[in-house]
Amino acid sequence: MASLFESTTLAGMALRNRLMRSATWERMADEQGRLTPRLEQTLLTIAEGGAALIFPGYAFVTAQEQPNPGMLGIYDDACVPDLQRLTDGVHERGAAVGLQLAYGGSFTNYRPEGRLIWGPSAVPHPATEVVPQAMSRGDIASLVEAFALAAGRAKRAGFDCVQMHSSHGYLLSQFLSPYFNRRDDAYGGSLENRCRIHREILAAIRRVNGESYPVLIKINSADHMPGGLTAADSLEACRILDGLGIDGIEISGGLRSQDPDTYFVKPHILKPERQSYYRPYAEAVAEAVSAPVILVGGNRDARMLQEMLDTTSIAYFALSRTLISEPDLVNRWQDDPSHQPRCLSCNKCFDPEGHICVLDRKAAPGE
Ligand SMILES: Cc1cc2nc3c(=O)[nH]c(=O)nc-3n(C[C@H](O)[C@H](O)[C@H](O)COP(=O)(O)O)c2cc1C
Repeated sequence: MASLFESTTLAGMALRNRLMRSATWERMADEQGRLTPRLEQTLLTIAEGGAALIFPGYAFVTAQEQPNPGMLGIYDDACVPDLQRLTDGVHERGAAVGLQLAYGGSFTNYRPEGRLIWGPSAVPHPATEVVPQAMSRGDIASLVEAFALAAGRAKRAGFDCVQMHSSHGYLLSQFLSPYFNRRDDAYGGSLENRCRIHREILAAIRRVNGESYPVLIKINSADHMPGGLTAADSLEACRILDGLGIDGIEISGGLRSQDPDTYFVKPHILKPERQSYYRPYAEAVAEAVSAPVILVGGNRDARMLQEMLDTTSIAYFALSRTLISEPDLVNRWQDDPSHQPRCLSCNKCFDPEGHICVLDRKAAPGE
């Protein structure tokens, strides 16, 4: 019987338990996307806190494009030495560390004026109203190469794996989504075509890093919006990626929208029925693929996660906000599975000064 706290091997990575830190933009890198002492310390503290595999926040793969401030960059060889120090520090604390590779596209409010923003088609993003430039075949080829070069740098910096960010309305998830992808060439229309850029990035990373270097994906279970990616198509995309040898599939969903219940960072997860909110999708994917499936979103109860291990084929669980609030939550759960995380899912951790828990914010004088 699988246990939440047993050691496992995922695509050659030794993992001390089945709990991961999902990629979480910390907003603590500098203007060039370089590691700062504060960001380094934040990640090392999480590594000390017991999670088996840690993804820092999404990293941008081209110097020209960055959807949010304070993100890590992996667009240049000069990024490698600092990141090498980070991965050494995480390894010394007993965790594995991966890097999530991202091209944001139109899901951005960060200096959108006057910069080139690519998309599959020139469709306004419902959350930002930014209209991207539809990519030419040449643009797609150069972005595929940028992902591969970024993965090469990640490997040289000591990351144990990379993860393609294909969720939440960023560019790779837009290619999968009929709402954003209106192309009539080899990259649009059928699901095979909408997955083509993923296939090409995976092949390019394998060419640069070798067949055995682990490549994971975070994918939307559905866009949860009219005209968006459906659950059936997402399941089929997971089957395609599994057939291509993807090493792990993290199931998320949705994009920022007016409806908080379809937001991938769903608020106010207190009652059990609001927890682990992509469970049904992850369960279905885990039945359909051979790659390990990772469930993210509202995981708040270690006993419920163990019950999922016992009764479904889901293999791993990822945590984001709870580790902002309580970086040592995994160690606490190991000591006491009934421990209730203190995270309120209030989403006030999205703070311009760097993402910290509201409960840790020092009251300003007079507050
Ligand atoms: C502050 C913050 C930053 C996030 N940054 C990322 C990111 O860089 N990449 C990503 O895939 N998801 C990101 N997410 C989403 C989380 O990884 C996760 O999918 C979501 O918060 C639900 O999990 P939770 O209930 O454990 O917080 C972010 C979430 C938060 C709260």
